[in-house]
Amino acid sequence: MKKVTIHTLRKMKQAGERITMLTAYDATFARLFDAAGIDALLVGDSLGMVVQGHDSTLKVTMDQTVYHCAAVARGSRRAHLVGDMPFGSYQASADEAVRNAMRIVAEGGMEAVKLEGGAEYAEVISRIVRAGVPVMGHLGLTPQSVHKLGGYVVQGRGDDKAARLLADARALEAAGCYSLVLEVIPADLGGEVTRALTIPTIGIGAGADCDGQVLVCYDLLGMNPTFQPRFVKKFVDLARVIGEAVGRYQEEVRSQEFPAAEHTFSSEIPKPAVAAGAPVLQLYSVPGKG
Ligand code: KIV
Repeated sequence: MKKVTIHTLRKMKQAGERITMLTAYDATFARLFDAAGIDALLVGDSLGMVVQGHDSTLKVTMDQTVYHCAAVARGSRRAHLVGDMPFGSYQASADEAVRNAMRIVAEGGMEAVKLEGGAEYAEVISRIVRAGVPVMGHLGLTPQSVHKLGGYVVQGRGDDKAARLLADARALEAAGCYSLVLEVIPADLGGEVTRALTIPTIGIGAGADCDGQVLVCYDLLGMNPTFQPRFVKKFVDLARVIGEAVGRYQEEVRSQEFPAAEHTFSSEIPKPAVAAGAPVLQLYSVPGKG
């Protein structure tokens, strides 16, 4: 097992090897994605929507971010780990941004942070990088600016806006970003930005020419049957699989087929094991430990 680092990602770009990234919010999913060989895991502030059920990412707090980051860090071994800086954690001042980035690394066990925004964040980014924390940039549809953007709409359309986005991308590279997420922009602009930078770009709805791709894991897994934006491909229909499994569980509970004899305990006390203080039962599954 070779740990994926920021250097691995840069070498992958140089070699023309595509980078795979997925979001993860807990240890169980992190463990599964890590075992499947994913290159990078992002504890995205999308957790505010897919985990917490809010209609935007804006309510996610630093404490919640650190909590989810620590869970993902416990579940993964190989993947490069990135924690999203939540809304309000880096906008007010560079000092506060540095302190919060350090919490994500020190308490959350992440290896890098991601933050949204262009050239206006160059100073904040270089302060965080100088403090020893790698920064992934994020341009295009930046969900924390949903009210400023007037909704979740395609960004970078038209020559002026495309030129502005390219200039922002260059500014982020110059400020010290080691990679850049491009979200929901025209595919040709995604390719142009990717060719203009030496750092890897990771696209979500930004076309096939980015150096890598990221998806929200619940989208790729098809957890929400009514959510089908253009940039999402559902690689499995887990909403159906889960619905069927829960349906079978209910049938078997009602018909008293479950629990069967093999799922129940006898009243006999296993004396030697108890006397030796050995654990007699694994109560809940811990990722990687069964
Ligand atoms: O919060 C998130 O999950 C993200 C990705 C979609 C890039 O920012």
